[in-house]
Amino acid sequence: MTTIKNVKAEIINDSRNVPTLSVSVTTDSGFTGVCMVPSGASTGKYEAFELRDDGTSKGSVTKAQVIVNTKINEALIGFDISKQREIDDLLIKLDGTDNKTNLGGNSLLGVSVACAKAAAKALDKEFYEYLQTLREVSSNITCPKLYFNLINGGKHANTSLAFQEYHLVPQVESVVESLDIAQKVQDALGALILEKYGEVARGDEGGYAIPTENIREPLEILSQAVEVCGVKDKVMFALDVAASSFHNDSNQLYKIGNEEHTKEELKDTYISLSGDFPLISIEDPFHEEDFESFAELQAVLPSVIIVGDDLTVTNVKRVEKAISMASITGMIIKPNQIGTLSETIDTITFAQKNGIKCIVSHRSGETMDDMIADITVAFKTFGIKSGARGPEVREVKYRRLSAIQK
Ligand code: PGA
Ligand code: ZN
Repeated sequence: MTTIKNVKAEIINDSRNVPTLSVSVTTDSGFTGVCMVPSGASTGKYEAFELRDDGTSKGSVTKAQVIVNTKINEALIGFDISKQREIDDLLIKLDGTDNKTNLGGNSLLGVSVACAKAAAKALDKEFYEYLQTLREVSSNITCPKLYFNLINGGKHANTSLAFQEYHLVPQVESVVESLDIAQKVQDALGALILEKYGEVARGDEGGYAIPTENIREPLEILSQAVEVCGVKDKVMFALDVAASSFHNDSNQLYKIGNEEHTKEELKDTYISLSGDFPLISIEDPFHEEDFESFAELQAVLPSVIIVGDDLTVTNVKRVEKAISMASITGMIIKPNQIGTLSETIDTITFAQKNGIKCIVSHRSGETMDDMIADITVAFKTFGIKSGARGPEVREVKYRRLSAIQK
């Protein structure tokens, strides 16, 4: 039996220069697993609690660090590293709340994933191979759809574009070819943007931030870039609207530019956009409480995958509700939305059993951790979101995917 010798958290900076945890778990046999925890900006209301010293989204994480180095370390020393489910159950029990409010989802996730990575090393397995032992799944490798976020708006850019993400999604079976198509289209897009707006700024996830409030314009310019590259037959587009971020709870309207829109108008906008552009999926088309409007959109656009993110927050209870109301046909998987690896796997399993397409996702505040690539491969999820080409925190996930596919 290999046991846990030490659990230790350090503080590092994420891609927005905001402090976050890097947790190392070392076994008695000398293997160490490390997890660097990411952090969102357009977070869902029902996500696991992120523990920060001053309660703000940019505060430091020294309290979380102390919790890992004392309370969690003491509880886990001597524990069998191969018992991931028991480790996660213990973490959940130590916290004692539904939402990880006491110890923080960031502390818990760091420890949970670092344990699994240490266990993989102790067993001399690749991380995705070890993940497959935690749930019955065949070992062949499939290629997920890669979602490249080429235009950033919403809370990820200093512009007035309401929609948060405009993705290019190559429809090919090879990671290398997908990466190549994305790079070409991104470069062509950059040139078109420079020509049209006279500047090329970048948003949090590496995509271009363009000075427009017209939500259709990014799709038009993306189409031009695709045309220039001659890859029209090989790509589709996807949106992450992140509609909660521009929904006004007091009058129930959505603010796009200077105009306020009803949910019916917004629905008509999606119908029109999916008629004009090759949209494979639309994420969070309405705010995070509106399961009904998701369902209505799903019914009128059966060929477009309607994806929950803030709606479902990687939480089985929210996913159950979304499925029972026919709100979604796809969902985002973000381990730090729920807080432990076992719960993340449970959510993927539940969603997949119900025919829901899972897209494993990074966060806008990222680290050099590449766990999402292994999770995607291990459970053969439909897709993965890791931003635009270029930034190292995004590329590291793509590199890991290519390495696994080789
Ligand atoms: P976030 O954005 O990491 O800022 O929450 C990503 C997303 O909404 O998909
Ligand atoms: Zn989202």
